[in-house]
Amino acid sequence: MRPHEILGIVGSLRTESWNHRLAEAIAAIAPERLRFELVRSDLPVYDDDVEAAQPPAEVEELRRKATAADGILVVTPEYNYGIPGPLKNTLDWLSRPAFRSPFRDKPVTSFGATPGPGSPSRAIAQVNAFFIAVAAAPLPWPALAVGRVADVLDDDGGVDAKVARRATAQLEAFADWIEAVAAYREARAR
Ligand code: FNR
Repeated sequence: MRPHEILGIVGSLRTESWNHRLAEAIAAIAPERLRFELVRSDLPVYDDDVEAAQPPAEVEELRRKATAADGILVVTPEYNYGIPGPLKNTLDWLSRPAFRSPFRDKPVTSFGATPGPGSPSRAIAQVNAFFIAVAAAPLPWPALAVGRVADVLDDDGGVDAKVARRATAQLEAFADWIEAVAAYREARAR
């Protein structure tokens, strides 16, 4: 069986983003059933007039990637107890056309990381609300939420063993989920 193609949308624009570094570290040790492409949330600001006329080429390109992906992983920082504006903007572009967007029925899951002592769980909760709004197929549990992220990443792109174990458990579950959703859809189509 070919690997499941996963589009990883990272909700930070920073060159040295912790979330991007964490996503890269985890993609590098992910189960063989999954293959990742990571993108940043750098689309122009959503405008419904532009959507109605002609969406920008980079939006069309990301929609094409999201549609083709077998699953989507959203990796989010937490900004003021929510997701950063650029990530919300990217998700809003990908939520169109309504009811038949690239997210419709798509297996999805999320991670979040913060350098602070708490958990980015409120940002993850907002991502989950988005998944429901667009009728995606969210993995029910777990979602990796990493606090004090600077302590779990090393300079060589590695991640500490405990976080690696938790991430791997989530990604194994996600691979199973992608296969289960595909089987369900096939059964419903009969
Ligand atoms: C933050 N940060 C932050 N952290 C957190 O744990 N909870 C929060 O509510 C916030 N709020 C917040 C608002 C704004 C405007 C900024 C700029 C930052 C800190 C944040 O976690 C930190 O900047 C991370 O480094 C952002 O993630 P990346 O860009 O490193 O992936």
